[in-house]
Amino acid sequence: MPHLHDPFRAHLAQTSADPDGLEVGSALGARVTDSDGRVYLDFLAGIGVCNTGHRHPAVLDAVRAQLDRHLHVMVFGEWMQEAPVRLAERLAALAPFSDAQVYLGNSGAEGVEGALKLARKATGRQRIVAFEGSYHGDTYGALSVLGVEALRTPFAPLLPGIAFRPFGDEKGLAAVNPGTAAVIVEPIQAEGGVRVPPDEFLPALRRKCDEVGALLIFDEVQVGLGRTGTLWAGSHWQVVPDILVLAKALGGGLPLGAFVAPRKIMKTLATDPPLSHLTTFGGHPLSCAAGLAALDLTLAEGLPARAAVLGIRLRDAMEKLKSVGWLTALRGKGLLVGLELPTREKARLVVTRCRERGLLIGCALHDERVIRLTPPLTLTDAELDEGLTILSAAISG
Ligand SMILES: Cc1ncc(COP(=O)(O)O)c(C=O)c1O
Repeated sequence: MPHLHDPFRAHLAQTSADPDGLEVGSALGARVTDSDGRVYLDFLAGIGVCNTGHRHPAVLDAVRAQLDRHLHVMVFGEWMQEAPVRLAERLAALAPFSDAQVYLGNSGAEGVEGALKLARKATGRQRIVAFEGSYHGDTYGALSVLGVEALRTPFAPLLPGIAFRPFGDEKGLAAVNPGTAAVIVEPIQAEGGVRVPPDEFLPALRRKCDEVGALLIFDEVQVGLGRTGTLWAGSHWQVVPDILVLAKALGGGLPLGAFVAPRKIMKTLATDPPLSHLTTFGGHPLSCAAGLAALDLTLAEGLPARAAVLGIRLRDAMEKLKSVGWLTALRGKGLLVGLELPTREKARLVVTRCRERGLLIGCALHDERVIRLTPPLTLTDAELDEGLTILSAAISG
């Protein structure tokens, strides 16, 4: 295979000075093979995308069947296409609230945009409350609710009417008032450094939203679909949102996003004026076919429960390193695990060491002292042990 380094650096827009730079040959299950034929164990899984592993045969079969039928034929919402309709039907049945409808898009950020638009239109209010440290994507609406000022500032002016409060702190909830259209929150902040809120936080947030009539948006783009040990992360605290945003694992490895809401809220997008939220490619039939197969697998193979069990094993093994290695804190639920090291440099060294020894991992976007683990939920016991051996050696100092 020709080496891609030079054209990659020259012709693909660069997002940082030092990209990860693995040259991909192929991927299967929990393994990625580089263009020189070196095989790695993958604890990134496309950053929480490949919950069912890379190229699961059932996902490939569904994609092939759809390829033989049709690709794009019409914009979202006009013609009845089997794959998006069946996926929406299935998601509606699984949604944490009743009478759910699903708006299918292409990505997480796009799902967030739709959710924010829906909240403003449905409530007739403008104010949005978001949380410090959050990541919701990089389009203008999503960036406007992203909780890191340094990332927002260069792109100002952003959406007006956004208030940021500390994540996990009930005292900040006074900001949710009768002018608030919505509060947007990740039930567990992933890119913020795998931050799990105190148990009282999300229930208190739900109560506050109910009190003032604000809609609660859960961004479950990274934590949804079984990653944290339950199908929806909000159910760890028995909290039900008004609007649920999904992406990443939703497409089974193909691009797909969604926002989901009860029909009484969603219906406001269809009137006054009608056609006020449109997308050409949203809910692409190929992505929906793959997504439906991945969702079927997630349920049939009990992957949320598997994530819970493997997550406990992973955290138990890491816990032991706290006294002997560089590990200063350990957080997470299911197979979303954050390993905090004293410095960004040490975290990066661990990532490099693991890579040299055949394990792919990475740091959280907003806190590079934290290594964020998101392996496939289909990981075998042997693969988990293999990864733990490499990780333990790398983190032991
Ligand atoms: C919680 C959360 N929301 C939204 C997004 C944005 O998703 P996308 O990159 O598909 O736009 C991400 C991406 O990492 C995410 O982790």
